[in-house]
Amino acid sequence: MQLARSLITVALAAAVAASAFAQDRPTLYKRLGGYDALAAVTDDFLGRLAPDPKLGRFFVGHSTDSIKRIRGGIVDFLCVATKGPCSYSGRDMKTAHTGLKITDEDWDISVKALTATLDKFSVPLAEKNEVLAAVAMLKNDIVER
Ligand code: HEM
Repeated sequence: MQLARSLITVALAAAVAASAFAQDRPTLYKRLGGYDALAAVTDDFLGRLAPDPKLGRFFVGHSTDSIKRIRGGIVDFLCVATKGPCSYSGRDMKTAHTGLKITDEDWDISVKALTATLDKFSVPLAEKNEVLAAVAMLKNDIVER
């Protein structure tokens, strides 16, 4: 009985500590370095996708201004997704990508490119995994079956 009570006390203390930690923890946005860091990550990521022999097809036929708009949309989207102080006014991910016929293979190449980008910027493992997990949740909306 005494042991059970001590265990409950320890578990409660751990839960309180964990929630306090979660509240004090800076947002992923801050931990990644803020808006300029997200913009640099986006530019590097797009810079890897555009020349890729499999993915280049998605990035031809856009005006320079359209590319700028898409790039700005991605930065804002990432900012909101990582709890930064931004607003995103573009289309939702399903609407923006439906019809492009992005395949599983395209997706895998993109995730590898994003991983290489995050490594290039020396994003720590915990933050890298959080970004990749958040991106993984978008797969169903972006890849078409
Ligand atoms: C990593 C996850 C991804 C995110 C967060 C993302 C985000 C976005 C955003 C925010 C837009 C702009 C939407 C708007 O302004 O209305 C966009 C457009 C676009 N994305 Fe993605 N995207 C992702 C993956 C991909 C992949 C894997 C491809 C292709 C390989 C791709 C190709 C495109 C293209 C071509 C557009 C322009 C669509 C158009 O306006 O015609 N995206 N994406």
